Amino acid sequence: MATKTIRDIAVSGKRCFVRCDFNVPLDDKGNITDDTRIKAALPTIRHLIENNAKVILASHLGRPKGKDPKLTLAPIAKQLSAELRQPVVLLPDSVGAEVEAAVSSMEAGQVVLLENVRFYSEEKKDAENWAANYGKFADVFVNDAFGTAHRFEASTAGIAKYVDDSVCGFLIERELQFLGDKTSNPERPFTVILGGAKVSDKITVIDALLEKADSIMIGGAMAYTFMLAMGGSVGSSLNEPDKIETAQAALNKAKERGVKFLLPIDHVITQSVDFGALTVTETKVVEGNIPEGWQGVDIGPKTLALFQEEVAKAKTVLWNGPMGIFEIKDCNKGTFAVAETIANSSSTSIIGGGDSVKAIKKSGYSDRVTFMSTGGGASLEFLEGKVLPGVDALDKA
Ligand code: 3PG
Repeated sequence: MATKTIRDIAVSGKRCFVRCDFNVPLDDKGNITDDTRIKAALPTIRHLIENNAKVILASHLGRPKGKDPKLTLAPIAKQLSAELRQPVVLLPDSVGAEVEAAVSSMEAGQVVLLENVRFYSEEKKDAENWAANYGKFADVFVNDAFGTAHRFEASTAGIAKYVDDSVCGFLIERELQFLGDKTSNPERPFTVILGGAKVSDKITVIDALLEKADSIMIGGAMAYTFMLAMGGSVGSSLNEPDKIETAQAALNKAKERGVKFLLPIDHVITQSVDFGALTVTETKVVEGNIPEGWQGVDIGPKTLALFQEEVAKAKTVLWNGPMGIFEIKDCNKGTFAVAETIANSSSTSIIGGGDSVKAIKKSGYSDRVTFMSTGGGASLEFLEGKVLPGVDALDKA
């Protein structure tokens, strides 16, 4: 069943509670350092304004313990006002008489933003009951917070029970389309590039994608656990000895299903990494095994060429996770070259959230990919095939 969207309902004059994910990074002075999630919410908000809804925006920011003034949504209200070119008033609270009174005096087309919903621990801890507070001032629940859709919270799911209609916004619709439909019924060949530090973080995703992809390429430190599973040696590279069997099982599954499974054939290695200073000692490239006392920090040029060859053949590419320690200059070539390769390919390119989105932005190619997910944990859980409570609540409503 397709999830109902804001296109499917009449919103004129309705009080629409719109859950967004405005959990954006802030600097020490409280300035927004990446506004992607704010921009991504605009199409839904604009649609509601144009269709004369009363727009009540809600979000969390960070993980506050109580009312932490550093985690106020004030900077977000300011930026939204500028983007929408109309006032977006920040209400002093997210529940209660003052909010109810403010909403009851709203006119169609007006927009307000509730204060951080997580200033109350009940938002998470007592989601079902706490959501009744929102139901007092809302007719419709519009969920557009894909990044928080993997959480069952009062404002992401609980509220569905207390309103007349529950639908998703355009952002969630697109996320479901690209991370869901386009990877479940992909145009083939469908190739997947996965990276990141740990097999344990990605194994469920690998398992799910082995059912769908034609080829899977692995980079990042998790490749070293796979190398161990194949009998290789990895020196002092990061690895998970207790996941060697899991990696072995994934390799077997790939073989059984005829999925091409590519691991790095060469590596950028170094003797020590300083994560505080973001530096490494001298690096060199080795093929095959990694010698004792050395650790892998990026894929090497031959691996990159191999991955590029595979991407060139693909009609659909999904990328999640960096190829090395891309925050460090001497270890970022593989990640940025993969970003460039994907940006230059004519395939449908889907960037599955988190660090790979950061990397593609940093490389300057973000406007050349088909879709970039706004989810971190939510994207992974969705790719793993898990039901997202924030979407499930809409489907059940
Ligand atoms: C995120 O940034 O991944 C989402 O906003 C969810 O935040 P949370 O992990 O604090 O629930």
